[in-house]
Amino acid sequence: MKILITGGAGFMGSNMIHYLLKKYNDVEIINFDLLTYAGNLENLKDIENDSRYTFIKGDIVDFQSINSVVSQGVDIVINYAAETHVDRSILDAKAFLSTNIMGVYNLLESVRKNNIKKMVQISTDEVYGAVLEGESVEEDVFRPRSPYAASKASADHLCHSYFTTYNTPVIVTHSVNFYGPYQFPEKLVPLFTTKLFTGEKVPVYGDGMQVREWIFTEDHCSAIDTIANKGEVGETYNIGTGFRVTNLEITKKIIKLTGRDESYVEYVKDRAGHDRRYALNSQKIRTKLGWKPEVNFDTGLQKTVDWYKNNPEWLEKCVSGEYKEYYKNQYKLR
Ligand code: TYD
Repeated sequence: MKILITGGAGFMGSNMIHYLLKKYNDVEIINFDLLTYAGNLENLKDIENDSRYTFIKGDIVDFQSINSVVSQGVDIVINYAAETHVDRSILDAKAFLSTNIMGVYNLLESVRKNNIKKMVQISTDEVYGAVLEGESVEEDVFRPRSPYAASKASADHLCHSYFTTYNTPVIVTHSVNFYGPYQFPEKLVPLFTTKLFTGEKVPVYGDGMQVREWIFTEDHCSAIDTIANKGEVGETYNIGTGFRVTNLEITKKIIKLTGRDESYVEYVKDRAGHDRRYALNSQKIRTKLGWKPEVNFDTGLQKTVDWYKNNPEWLEKCVSGEYKEYYKNQYKLR
């Protein structure tokens, strides 16, 4: 089985590469990644010499570049390449529209022209917009409210239009918030964990009562693996755990795990257009494909905090250079 992972040097892509190499002996993986600020080959250092793995630097926004890889023949394309950080999309949306929409268009075209058997497009619960009560199901209309969410929603529509129009075999997945090793320290869990290690306060947006649903990386990898093997083309699958907490609750858990106290919470100006709550109904993947999450939130969070504690060099490389200022002040930039 030859699998093309786009964006494989990022957080979720690199976790998936590790997962696949561990689970399957006979797998061949091509990692196609532009190595933007969030892509880091350090994430794959331990497997870089594995004969089943190849890295190619390239941009999905450049059709020739991605098509030259797809046209060599692969069994499946899994697209993790994306701009993902909402705060950055508020500062400047352009890269989001380019990578998240035009990049997906190029992939769809390439999959279509080269008769690839399956493509999985990794997307987000944020396309459904804020859900103040109840749960989003796959049939719900999209109501994206940030430039990031709008770019992902556009790409998802494009995927379904390609399936309808050209029979392009694509599946769309909507996942809740991920956490785990190798996540770039701009997202809540790694940002707060690493700030607390060094005794800095953590910037909680607004009142901290926004609700998110969380999934540990390994569970997300097993969900994508299940979908890649058993998912039906043209379909959408929500991937969730049902584990929903407020930002303040998760902050308090991280505070406890890092040995700090609540004086380390700093309430800062809220994110513009901040979605109050996301919640996914994930019955479809559970009943139709037989998947379920295995990792309890507290166990996953402990593993994550331990990983960041044990990998200070990885962190130092991430927060050096031009990212240093952003890491220190990102919430003041909004
Ligand atoms: P984030 O990790 O950016 O993921 P998303 O916006 O995709 O859900 O943020 C998770 C939640 O944490 C979100 O409600 C915003 C909030 N948040 C803070 O309160 N402070 C921060 O510094 C960050 C990065 C996020």
